[in-house]
Amino acid sequence: MSLLDKLVVLTLPIVPKPIVRYFSRNYIAGSSLNEAISVVRELNAKGIMATMDLLGEEVTKKEQAAAAADEYKEILKAIDLHKLNANISVKPTHMGLNLDKEFCFKNICGIIEVAKKYNNFVRIDMEDRHTTANTIELFLRLKEEFEGHVGLVIQAYLRRTADDVRKLISHKANLRLCKGIYVEPREDAYKDMAIINESYKYNLEQLLKNKCYVGIATHDEKLVWHGIKTVEDLGLKKDEYEFQMLLGVDEQLRDIIVNAGHRLRVYVPYGKDWYAYSTRRLKENPKMAGYVIKKIFHLS
Ligand code: FDA
Repeated sequence: MSLLDKLVVLTLPIVPKPIVRYFSRNYIAGSSLNEAISVVRELNAKGIMATMDLLGEEVTKKEQAAAAADEYKEILKAIDLHKLNANISVKPTHMGLNLDKEFCFKNICGIIEVAKKYNNFVRIDMEDRHTTANTIELFLRLKEEFEGHVGLVIQAYLRRTADDVRKLISHKANLRLCKGIYVEPREDAYKDMAIINESYKYNLEQLLKNKCYVGIATHDEKLVWHGIKTVEDLGLKKDEYEFQMLLGVDEQLRDIIVNAGHRLRVYVPYGKDWYAYSTRRLKENPKMAGYVIKKIFHLS
């Protein structure tokens, strides 16, 4: 990481919001549902599926969680109305997980009922390690009620993941596998990228061999290569897995995957609560933040 990139990350908390917004415009579809719909339309026209995310996490009041759930229902209606090829991704803490588990369960049930009505699907995102056990428990309860309409995310960097995957295989869960984005301590998470990648490959193989549907979510070309090799070795059909990428990240790799005939879904976040998401993305990829800063201030 260059000195400038490090500086960008360190000073991020004091960077004025309009500048963060400028950085993040490629990663976020906009602040309104209409803007997100246009982005999904463009992706669909290129043969790419979407998963729509209403930005927000860690609400402090139940009313906020209920309002977010209502907006998710509107998203599902809009997907149906505009005949979009998209599902939705929901964060448990946005639905009130850390306020009241039972309330969160009911809140998400309300969303999945609507998804079921439109024959759609809800992916439960995975957040930091404090939420992992509760999120898995929540997912298994939801799956029992809404089989075929709900899936979960699992993170390769967590040491517990191989055990979780074994358990989830026994439930034939539909999973998105990602490396994991939160900063976690070494007791709980691998810190060495080579180990994280091995864990990713191991868990992906276990899931696919055991006929679980997997969203192979990564922009790491080595892992994409391994994913393609694994699905080919196992002789899987194109509708037994999909690749997934974040909006605005490595569109060239995205096209390569699509042109090779694999299904690909892009995560499309939108909403007024873009700040937390943007700062996380920029901290994750300071190189990009540094690059944009250089452009703005004509440093290169
Ligand atoms: P890696 O971090 O090694 O990146 C590979 C290359 O991709 C980098 O060299 C860089 O060039 C590029 N790249 C990666 N991220 C980038 C970015 N943000 N901006 C620009 N370039 C970037 N995590 C989580 O904890 N819970 C979740 O629910 C989800 N959900 C989710 C959905 C989808 C569809 C995706 C693709 C990812 C997630 N993630 C997530 C995030 C995930 O855990 C991980 O942090 C990122 O995908 C980055 O990891 P990669 O596998 O891409 O590898």
